[in-house]
Amino acid sequence: MLRTHTCGELRITDVGKEIVLCGWLQKSRDIGTIGFIDLRDRYGITQLSFDEHKNKDVFNQARILGREFVLQISGTVVERTAKNANMATGDIEIQVASVEILNESKTPPFTIEEDTDGGDELRMKFRYLDLRRANVRKNLELRHKVSKFTRQFLDAQNFIEVETPMLIKSTPEGARDFIVPSRLNEGEWYALPQSPQTFKQLLMVSGFDRYYQIVKCFRDEDLRADRQPEFTQIDCEMSFVEQEDILNTFEALIKSLFKEVKNITLDPLPRMSYDHAMKYYGCDKPDTRFDMPFVYLDDLAKGKGFELFDSSESIIAINAKGAANYTRKQLDELTAFVKKPQIGAKGLIYCRVADDGTFKSSVDKFYDQADLQKWADACGAQTNDLILVLCGELNQTRKQMSELRLELGKQLGLRNADTYKALWVIDFPLVEYDEANKRWHAMHHPFTSPKPEDLKYMSTEPQRIRANAYDMVINGVEVGGGSIRIHNKDLQKQMFTLLGFSDEQAQNQFGFLMNAFEYGAPPHGGIAFGFDRLCSLFGGSETIRDYIAFPKNNMGRDVMIDAPSAISDEQRLELGL
Ligand code: AMO
Repeated sequence: MLRTHTCGELRITDVGKEIVLCGWLQKSRDIGTIGFIDLRDRYGITQLSFDEHKNKDVFNQARILGREFVLQISGTVVERTAKNANMATGDIEIQVASVEILNESKTPPFTIEEDTDGGDELRMKFRYLDLRRANVRKNLELRHKVSKFTRQFLDAQNFIEVETPMLIKSTPEGARDFIVPSRLNEGEWYALPQSPQTFKQLLMVSGFDRYYQIVKCFRDEDLRADRQPEFTQIDCEMSFVEQEDILNTFEALIKSLFKEVKNITLDPLPRMSYDHAMKYYGCDKPDTRFDMPFVYLDDLAKGKGFELFDSSESIIAINAKGAANYTRKQLDELTAFVKKPQIGAKGLIYCRVADDGTFKSSVDKFYDQADLQKWADACGAQTNDLILVLCGELNQTRKQMSELRLELGKQLGLRNADTYKALWVIDFPLVEYDEANKRWHAMHHPFTSPKPEDLKYMSTEPQRIRANAYDMVINGVEVGGGSIRIHNKDLQKQMFTLLGFSDEQAQNQFGFLMNAFEYGAPPHGGIAFGFDRLCSLFGGSETIRDYIAFPKNNMGRDVMIDAPSAISDEQRLELGL
């Protein structure tokens, strides 16, 4: 070893020891005849001191060392006169006897400290330098911890990790595939897996009984803070189970992760039906750190001469508790927020409940105090509360109100990153109608089993069929989702028919799975967690990028290696492109 200790481990009890450290020069400073260097490695920072009177050569040598030089130093651990309680090694420093430059460094393009002066793009381009920063590195240490405990937990429950292929067949369901040309089969293409879904089901047919894999998945979709084109799943499947068994098994996994990683005891996860989530929160992944449910004012607000309400399919209110003091400017800003093209509301109506219990609304012309009292009663609004109302087509208004609810939750400080509220959303519809393409789409995926009692709607009202499908939602983030699968060939065929596949197309795309179902497929089901999303939740951040060593930017680019990039004519020729 080139060192006796790391830069994070020496303490007051080590005073007097002769040691050797290696690391990067984080910063240096001189105060007259004494110089200091902060030496950094993965484990921490140790202060080095250089005394001109004690060792002039080394003192002079230290003065010319640049930031990020790689050094090996030897010296003696001494007690500091000015201790630093904020540093683990803050009680000691090293009186340096010799310095060896292991490598020089160009001046880095940004400061490599917790608070850096580097912008996003620059830090992405020099990601290997960004990863030297303690806060970025800690995110990856957290990621490692989450994967380690996941493996331990699942191993103890008899799950075995099996790798599934990365070069597979393109399928039309789900997101867009990334495709890969085949040199040996000119004109034909592989796809990178969006998930190991069909393979894990085949492993159940093979009798593996309990499978998991921490696995890369690839989806060519538009990117957001919680979406990367390549991301990682904790993918799981079990045989001889019902929905209840899956929910219990994986609720236990998540609870145990919270305990191990955050030392938080998570409450038992409440279960909410998809219909309830949509009705009261306007989305299928409600943030339940705060309540503020939707209140439908249709019966109370229609028929009073206010044309906008009268002509709306639905009138939805929320009660922002304690927000009656919102100024005109704040209300204008909220109105501008809901009118943004991404949200698309026509306007925002408000009603303040003043200190004395009277109401002041933006629609006083149409509604008197008695009318507004009814609104307040319906919303549970009391003095100092602010009722906000949106109207329009039902589904659109729900979506818009969901955004407004989240925004208010943020503004009112109700979405604290250190508070965790998890729940299961269950009873998803099996299919949804795609107006643009005039066809039914699987809401989860085509292998999800319908609830047996709803099978009767298969040919008449498919929208009424509920699925044995579930999502786990934490703080408004969909962290995982899964379902009980169809294990019967005929039902699977019926499902493909509903989704508009001809027998031939179904056979062509999924024949391997349907054929496998003819050889004794056990009842089975599973779930996959978004591993990056879980890590970012544990870390209290909304961007999963921070928890991925080498992430892509919003355009799906890796700006460090400059990918995607053009390929040579020779490569094209060889691939027949
Ligand atoms: P699903 O498509 O719901 O299910 O994906 C499971 C979980 O993966 C995470 N996730 C993502 N994370 C980051 N970037 C993305 N682009 C991205 N897309 C999805 C989410 C999501 O809940 N095979 C099924 C699972 C099953 O049925 O067992 C599947 O992939 O957290």
